[in-house]
Amino acid sequence: MSKKTRLRFDEVACDILESNDFQALKMEIHHGTSRYDHLVRVAKMTYRITKYTSRYNRDYTRAALLHDFYYDYEMDDMIWFGVFDYRRHPRISAERADVHFDLNKRQKNMIESHMFPFPGRVPRNYGSLVLMMVDKIVATYEVGRWGVMRVTRIAAMKTAKSTQNGVKKAVKGTRNGAKKVAIKARNTKNRVKNSKVMQKRAVRKAQKLSEIEKKGEK
Ligand SMILES: [Fe+2]
Ligand SMILES: [Fe+2]
Repeated sequence: MSKKTRLRFDEVACDILESNDFQALKMEIHHGTSRYDHLVRVAKMTYRITKYTSRYNRDYTRAALLHDFYYDYEMDDMIWFGVFDYRRHPRISAERADVHFDLNKRQKNMIESHMFPFPGRVPRNYGSLVLMMVDKIVATYEVGRWGVMRVTRIAAMKTAKSTQNGVKKAVKGTRNGAKKVAIKARNTKNRVKNSKVMQKRAVRKAQKLSEIEKKGEK
């Protein structure tokens, strides 16, 4: 995105981006990233597509930026057959966005229909169609990237663990080797000691025999 384009996106969205309620979305986890990042990514792509198809409208970018304007605590009881109940978050997001940033009819339809073709509102304008597609593309990219990161992290952890085990085995092997060398040295020392004792005994025995022989001659 060129500097000029980036500035224009910021101009369109700066009041939303700077609001405390929107900044709080940086703490919300969404597709392995923050909800803030997801919304900005979707809004920037919507901005580019509508601009380059010559259908640019300020409403499209702003609605795209607000399409998931909800918090996790609001979804705590929204479990449907054991999974996240996606059907209610577009309405909650639209209501909050309307209170904070005063939506028009077109923007409301964009937010409320962004989950289409899943049950909910039907897209009724160009911006709604773009947002519906862009949200799915971005979500697929984010979930895919998150999956790759998880697999990479697990593989790295396994490698680190096997390396740690290898080092442990090597240390254990070295310790055992050192023990064996020490035992061999001790055995050799004992053998030398025993041979010295045997030598002394033999000398003493020879002396005794010579003494007996001398007494017999007398
Ligand atoms: Fe959504
Ligand atoms: Fe979304």
